[in-house]
Amino acid sequence: MGTVKGIYIHIPFCSVKCPYCDFTSITDNSPKLIDKYVQSVIRELSLYKDRFDFEIETIYFGGGTPTAINPEYLVSIIEFINKNFNVLSSPEITVEANPNTYRYNQLKLLKDVGVNRLSIGNQTFNEKFLISLGRNHTPKDTYEMLNAALKAGITNINLDLIYGIEGQTLQDLQQDLDIYTSLPITHISAYMLTAYEDTPLGSKVLDGKYNLPDETTTTKMFFMIDEHLNSKGFKRYELSNWGKEGFWCKHNQFYWEDVEFLGVGLSAWSYVNDKRFGNTKNLYEYIEKLQNDKLPVIFEERLTPEDKLFERIMLGLRTVKGVPTDLISNKQYLKNLIEAKFGFIKDGNFVLSPRGLMVINEIVSKLVS
Ligand SMILES: C[S@@+](CC[C@H](N)C(=O)[O-])C[C@H]1O[C@@H](n2cnc3c(N)ncnc32)[C@H](O)[C@@H]1O
Ligand code: SF4
Repeated sequence: MGTVKGIYIHIPFCSVKCPYCDFTSITDNSPKLIDKYVQSVIRELSLYKDRFDFEIETIYFGGGTPTAINPEYLVSIIEFINKNFNVLSSPEITVEANPNTYRYNQLKLLKDVGVNRLSIGNQTFNEKFLISLGRNHTPKDTYEMLNAALKAGITNINLDLIYGIEGQTLQDLQQDLDIYTSLPITHISAYMLTAYEDTPLGSKVLDGKYNLPDETTTTKMFFMIDEHLNSKGFKRYELSNWGKEGFWCKHNQFYWEDVEFLGVGLSAWSYVNDKRFGNTKNLYEYIEKLQNDKLPVIFEERLTPEDKLFERIMLGLRTVKGVPTDLISNKQYLKNLIEAKFGFIKDGNFVLSPRGLMVINEIVSKLVS
């Protein structure tokens, strides 16, 4: 039996739906519904507690917006996990947060129950772009949340950054990077704006009403982010993640390193015993199933050795550790990639260079073919 080391808890509530977002989130934030939802999450956890071996090193609240609900709910979930699961000492506990939500009192409650990492969805300090992204917060909100977190004793802080916004220039991005690196934070996740098909942004792009920057610009942006953050002590350890030494997110590294994790809540995914399984995205179905003590899993697949190899290569190549060269069968292609500076060998592993990361999907499909 495998050993689960990380627990992910999905909190789907959000005050607004951002036009680019394809995560499972809902804007009906009625207290009754939130209460029922949290009860369901706890019931789901209780159904799992004797099913697998647990040695919990990380707990991660993602969303949606975990900080859209009262902190007491997050506290009750953490207390339930502490009481019912084998949690190792000083686990990494992360909460994703929108800047205009919790302040000192709420964050102190989280700190007191062991939350030691806050991930703030800042996206940009440029007010014009915050509006064009459909965000309902201001740069001042982020400063306030950051200061409140530090005062409460939560010092491991990530700020999310989105780049590749319509009309964004390299100078605009540089301004963001200058502000990000001047702040007392430990980690930056930088994502290129993606126009998912089933989102309002996706439709606008298809209709020609929103112009994403071209590939040359976004590639320049990625290089600029990587160089600037590296020069300021934030090392890239994965395609979209840079952290100061000792502050790389342990939970996310589990996803990339074949470590087993349990995901609970609406739409959450798990990976245990070579099986990947996922929950329903329908809130009412989720609650109803759990009211009847049934798991809300709607999808399950056993990974074949080939699936596992593909995953290991795909996820490993996103990271600075890369993948052992003996996992790669197409040695001639590997040689070509190294000659063309798309990657290099380090400690027996093949690691993609920033140039290679820009075409990672193409590379992975050829490497495993
Ligand atoms: C699921 S969100 C949760 C955090 C929080 N609700 C928020 O939006 O601030 C996690 C992060 O994913 C990123 N993200 C979401 N949709 C994206 C998209 N279409 N393109 C690029 N980044 C995206 C944003 O940086 C966001 O902060
Ligand atoms: S606040 Fe975050 S999770 Fe909610 S809709 Fe916006 S991007 Fe998605």
